[in-house]
Amino acid sequence: MGFVASSKPRRIDQLLANGGYCSRSEARVWLRMGRVTVDGVRAIDPGAKVDPTAVRVDSEPLDAPDDLLVLMHKPAGRVCSHDVREGPSVYDLLPPRWQDRNPVVTTVGRLDKDTTGVLLLTDVGSLVQQWTSPRHKVPKVYEVTVDKPIPVTLVEIFARGELMLEDEERPCQPAVLEILSPKEARLELTEGRFHQVKRMFEAHGLNVTRLHRSRFGAYTLDDLAPGTWRMLTIPGPEEENATVGSEKGAVA
Ligand code: URA
Repeated sequence: MGFVASSKPRRIDQLLANGGYCSRSEARVWLRMGRVTVDGVRAIDPGAKVDPTAVRVDSEPLDAPDDLLVLMHKPAGRVCSHDVREGPSVYDLLPPRWQDRNPVVTTVGRLDKDTTGVLLLTDVGSLVQQWTSPRHKVPKVYEVTVDKPIPVTLVEIFARGELMLEDEERPCQPAVLEILSPKEARLELTEGRFHQVKRMFEAHGLNVTRLHRSRFGAYTLDDLAPGTWRMLTIPGPEEENATVGSEKGAVA
């Protein structure tokens, strides 16, 4: 399975509509107004097939003409949901026009509202499937604080892969627990069940009071501030878990 971004020629009106800029009929108007150029030349025909990287709207390049992959430092207090009834969302931190992109931009798995850290977002459905499938065992690392001292025996219990969570039929996959201080630990999981970290500790009488994901696959936050994000290059098949260079910043 390959995830190489395509820059193959596309219709101008389709590019603008799929990028969330405007509808296809509005694109005709934008072209008539002279807002769109291709290779520096004013575009006229909405059906013309053009190289997406050569297109400018109001003199600006298209923000993400091809497949999209974003690394966000999720702040606390935001949900990974498109449903506005659930409150402030991680999607509100992205350019507003991305809400109208087609295909839709979604998170790769979810983090709870109070969880912070590495969150990937993409419009490549196959990437979401692959990176969230337990079969692919993508490592995820969490920094955990709990309300009581962590028993050393938990290291062995988590490692054995025999921990049963309530209402689940299969035990958790083996997980690596490193105790950093009496109430702090680092936990590496290769699956991503609903509230998994919190439930694993709760199964042993400990409540998680702080949860931060410091790594997803090979992706880490580096100096990314909470609430900000950067674009990533979609990895090729031979480097599916690698950060293949990144382009920092936000899109106006
Ligand atoms: N496990 C949890 O309990 N919550 C998260 O947000 C992520 C993993």
